[in-house]
Amino acid sequence: MQTKTPRRKKRRRFASQEAETRNRRKVVNRLVENDLIKRVSYDVYRDKVRRVYDGPAGAVLAACSKLSLHEPLGERLLKDRKFDLRGHKRILDVGSGAGQIAGHLLKYADSDAEITCFDLSLPMLRRARTRLKSTRPEFVAADLSRMPFSDGVFDCVTCGYVLEHLPDPRMGLQEISRVLRPGGRFLLLATEDSFSGAFTSRLWCCRTYNRQELRKLCAKLGLKWVTELWFTRMHRVFRAGGICVEIEKQ
Ligand SMILES: C[S@@+](CC[C@H](N)C(=O)[O-])C[C@H]1O[C@@H](n2cnc3c(N)ncnc32)[C@H](O)[C@@H]1O
Repeated sequence: MQTKTPRRKKRRRFASQEAETRNRRKVVNRLVENDLIKRVSYDVYRDKVRRVYDGPAGAVLAACSKLSLHEPLGERLLKDRKFDLRGHKRILDVGSGAGQIAGHLLKYADSDAEITCFDLSLPMLRRARTRLKSTRPEFVAADLSRMPFSDGVFDCVTCGYVLEHLPDPRMGLQEISRVLRPGGRFLLLATEDSFSGAFTSRLWCCRTYNRQELRKLCAKLGLKWVTELWFTRMHRVFRAGGICVEIEKQ
């Protein structure tokens, strides 16, 4: 008894110090995170996002994805079939940007799969077309919160770092769920509410997501998290690299 009490006290002190550090981190992240999305209407914010990607930032997006290793590490997920594209015949790539994910789809999806690249920014779609050097994908310009596709037409959706450009994730998740057929698969990559996520949000004028909150919301919308994916073992250990998850429409 005599030895247990100080040990318990020590443990409790350690737990409260941990909680304090976590809270401090949350405050710092919140201070660093870009908050434009919370301050203006969605129309005003979306115009700003479009201008960001239409302009010079969009022109260097492909190079940034290579430098940050997102593009090669993302390719590994698809090449190693951690997210298995085989068997999917109609694939939608939401927010294609410079065609970073679409390029992997062209390599690793079935050769008869139809691929649609979708983005808010026309210049971004032009850049994707130039980079991909393929006549196979269809290119569509529109807003993720109002996609010009019928219900259940896709059996696979990929969405890399786009959902964080919406004030409410529901606006995008409901749309993606609508265009996916039941049993369809969805690869979601999103910026997490970590320090590096907050920093990314500054660069790309977006928000971040809390993993647990996003998971709960998906469950409510009938989007089941099948597997949480990690780019490498190091990313998993350090909980780095953002949210990357395979989702199934129920
Ligand atoms: C960071 S880039 C992601 C590029 C690529 N998917 C990747 O994984 O690297 C985000 C892209 O989403 C597009 N985007 C932002 N908001 C959007 C919206 N509401 N609807 C459709 N596309 C949007 C931007 O134009 C930009 O091309």
